[in-house]
Amino acid sequence: MKHIYRFCICIIFLLAFAESHLYAQNGGHQTGDLTPPVQLTASQDHARMMQLLKIDSIRIGADGNNPKAPNAANYDEAKANPYPKLPDALQLNNGQEIRSAQDWWKKRRPEIVEDFDREIIGRVPTNMPAVHLKIDSIYHQIIGNVDVITKKLKGHVDNSIYPFINVDIDVSLSTPANANGPVPVMMELIFKFPPGMKLPVQAGPTWQEQVVAKGWGFATYVPVSVQADNGAGLTQGIIGLVNRGQPRKLDDWGALRAWAWGASKVLDYFETDPAVDAKQVGIEGHSRYGKAALIAVAYDPRFAIGFISSSGEGGAKLHRRNCGEIVENLAGTGEYHWMAGNFIKYAGPLHWNDLPVDAHELIALCAPRPIFISSGSVGDAWVDARGMFLATVAAGPVYRLLGRRDLGTDVFPPIETSLLDGELAFRQHSGGHTPGPNWPYFLDFASRYIKTATSKNLR
Ligand code: GCU
Repeated sequence: MKHIYRFCICIIFLLAFAESHLYAQNGGHQTGDLTPPVQLTASQDHARMMQLLKIDSIRIGADGNNPKAPNAANYDEAKANPYPKLPDALQLNNGQEIRSAQDWWKKRRPEIVEDFDREIIGRVPTNMPAVHLKIDSIYHQIIGNVDVITKKLKGHVDNSIYPFINVDIDVSLSTPANANGPVPVMMELIFKFPPGMKLPVQAGPTWQEQVVAKGWGFATYVPVSVQADNGAGLTQGIIGLVNRGQPRKLDDWGALRAWAWGASKVLDYFETDPAVDAKQVGIEGHSRYGKAALIAVAYDPRFAIGFISSSGEGGAKLHRRNCGEIVENLAGTGEYHWMAGNFIKYAGPLHWNDLPVDAHELIALCAPRPIFISSGSVGDAWVDARGMFLATVAAGPVYRLLGRRDLGTDVFPPIETSLLDGELAFRQHSGGHTPGPNWPYFLDFASRYIKTATSKNLR
C-alpha cells in the first residue's frame, strides 16, 4: 500500500515537473490540457484535405520546365481560353443585375467575398488574438542621399490560447528624418533568403531610394514570420496558433490570406505611429507575395494603393486561362497551402469553369482604389501577362460603376506600354520575373493619389 502511495506521489511530481518545464518554455503561459501541434508532411496534410473533400485524385499541373513533357505548360494563345465567359462581377448569384454603387457594396461585393473566403483563399477565424507591436531598435540610415529613421519592429501575437506556438511579425519601417509631418509609406512583402544568398542587384536606384526621394517612407514586412511557406507548416504559425495546433478545415485560411492578415496588422501599427500617414499606405508584393498583396488590398480597405507584381495564378491571372501556371499547380502539394482546402477540388473532379468567381473579381474588390498590375516578359511567361491583363479589363465595370476609370482598352498592349491613365493600371516591362523595372512607373502612377504634406499644400 505504502509503495503504491509513494509511486503515485512520484508520478504526480513528475507530471508537475513536466508541466512547469513546458510552462517555462512557453514564456510562462499555461498549456493546460493542450497538446503540441500535430505534425504532418505537406503530402500527408494534402491527402487529408483530399479525404475531407472525398476525392481520390486530382489532375496534374502544367510543367513549366520541360516543353516536351506531355503536360507542358501551354503558351499558345489559340488554346489559352477554354472558358472565355467569366462570372459577371455585376450580377448577383440569383441572376439580378447590379446597377448602383450601393447595391455593389451592400449586395454583390459580400457575395464575392464569401465565394473567395469559402472556395479559394479561406476564411480568417473570427476571434483573432491581439497583436502587440513593439520597437526593437531605432537608428539613422542614409538611403540614397536621404537621412532616414529606421525602426525594427516585432509584432507579438498573443498566444495565451495556445502557448506552444509563438508568432512574431517581422517589420522594418524607415521614414525621412527631416519630414515635417506624417509621411505616406510604401510597404513591400519581402522574401527572406538564406544567409549569403542575394538577388541580383539592379542598375539604378533601389525601390527604397526611389520612394524616399519622393519624401515618402518605406517598410518591409516578412510574411513567413506570420506563416511558413509550406504545407507542413499549416499546424504552426498564425494558422496553427488559432487552430491550437490542429490541421485545417476545408474553408480555413491558407498562407496567402494569413500573409495578407499580417500586412493589415502592420497597418494597425502604422495608425499609431506619428511618423506615418496611415491613410496613404501602399503595398507591393512580387510573385507569391504579389498574390498576397492583391488579397491584402482586396480585403483591407485601408490600403490606399497596390503594386501587384507578377502575381500570376492565384493572383491577378484568370483561373480560367490555360497559359503558364494553372489551377492544378496551385492545388498540388507544393502550393495548396497558399489556398483554402476547398480550392483543391477545382483540379478534379470540378474544373476551372466551376469556380464561382475569378481573378477579375479579386481585383474588383480593390475598387475604387488604384491598383497597378505588373508583369515581366522574358522569363516571366509562367505568370501569364495576358491573363492578368484580361482580368484587369474585366474588373473595369466595377470601377466604372463606382465612378472611376478602367484600363481604357481591351487590346493587349505591346511590352513596355504603360496603361496608367485610369485607377486600373497595367504594365508589362521587358525584364524578367521582377518588379524592379516597373517601380518608376508605379511611383508616377501612385503620385497622382499619394501626396506628402508639402505636395498636398501645392495642389
Ligand atoms: C512559383 C509558383 C508561382 C509563384 C512563384 C514565386 O513559380 O508557381 O505561383 O508566384 O513560384 O512566388 O516565385
